Amino acid sequence: MKTILIAGCTGFIGQNLIKKLIDDNIIIGIDNLYSSSLKSIESYREHKNFRFINASIIHLPLIEPNIDVIYNLACPASPPVYQKDPIFTLDTNYIGTKNMLELAKNKSAVLIQASTSEVYGDPIVHPQKEDYFGNVNPIGVRSCYDEGKRVAETLCYEYRKIYNVNTRIIRIFNTYGPGMIYNDGRVVSNFIVNTIMGKSLIIYGNRNKTRSFCYIDDMINALVKVMEIDFDSPINLGNDTEISLINLAKLIIDKYGENKIEFIDSVPDDPKIRKPDISRAKEILNWNPTIQIPEGIEKTFNYFKEVL
Ligand SMILES: NC(=O)c1ccc[n+]([C@@H]2O[C@H](COP(=O)([O-])OP(=O)(O)OC[C@H]3O[C@@H](n4cnc5c(N)ncnc54)[C@H](O)[C@@H]3O)[C@@H](O)[C@H]2O)c1
Repeated sequence: MKTILIAGCTGFIGQNLIKKLIDDNIIIGIDNLYSSSLKSIESYREHKNFRFINASIIHLPLIEPNIDVIYNLACPASPPVYQKDPIFTLDTNYIGTKNMLELAKNKSAVLIQASTSEVYGDPIVHPQKEDYFGNVNPIGVRSCYDEGKRVAETLCYEYRKIYNVNTRIIRIFNTYGPGMIYNDGRVVSNFIVNTIMGKSLIIYGNRNKTRSFCYIDDMINALVKVMEIDFDSPINLGNDTEISLINLAKLIIDKYGENKIEFIDSVPDDPKIRKPDISRAKEILNWNPTIQIPEGIEKTFNYFKEVL
């Protein structure tokens, strides 16, 4: 049994990670509820293995127990939310990650840092391998997130090199599934919620825009493996099946509705294509996503039907 601290525990990935780990580990969850609510962890509040701390990682309180593993998931993750207060997003990624690293150093804990495919920006290399440096605008509307996550990676790299902290960086690509917040502006939730509400499905930018979507259960399996296996340079985690947004919209409408698809001008710096090269994850973690889009969408649709 390990003691595991999950920062960002009430968010989409955090709540699913708690579900997976809580029966066999002690979980200390931290969240300032910036983009989530306590409702997502309601069912764990009385669990003997769970303790919740309502705090920002920017102003981390004293954490008394020994910690074996830290997952740093704390950061607003959808564009409308992280753009609401860009300085907060930057502080979370720099000061917050630094606080997490200091904690890992003091407790001799493993630190798993949730980075993102956004470190590749609007990629020129396709698919994206971990050794691609990316194409990121340092002064655009997405920069607080993209550059914040990049500097957080640099901090992890330096703490590993200088202080021997056991840091593991994972670059998460678009992930979806039950637990997503219905109105936080991500593609899959937007499409499904609009389908249920009888509204048009909106695509920003051109018809060829693509993404690669990973179902949450696959991602959680990878996060658990990352806890067990040491590696020193970043690993991409995502599903490498690429789909155009128009085909995703059609797949949802064909099955669940008769909604229209509308095209709206692209938002600045929005990546046009996105697909992870996951050979490193396959080799080092022996991990491969198994749930493909039709099955994942069905589970997510049923979840939203219930939530709405
Ligand atoms: N879901 C994805 O597709 C995806 C893709 C790439 C990277 N990621 C990364 O994975 C992590 C989790 O993503 P998610 O989808 O669960 O996002 P989310 O927005 O659902 O959850 C993030 C959580 O962090 C909390 N938080 C934000 N700032 C904080 C702070 N300063 N102190 C404490 N808590 C804070 C929020 O309240 C929220 O509960 C994030 O770091 C995100 O950048 C997610």
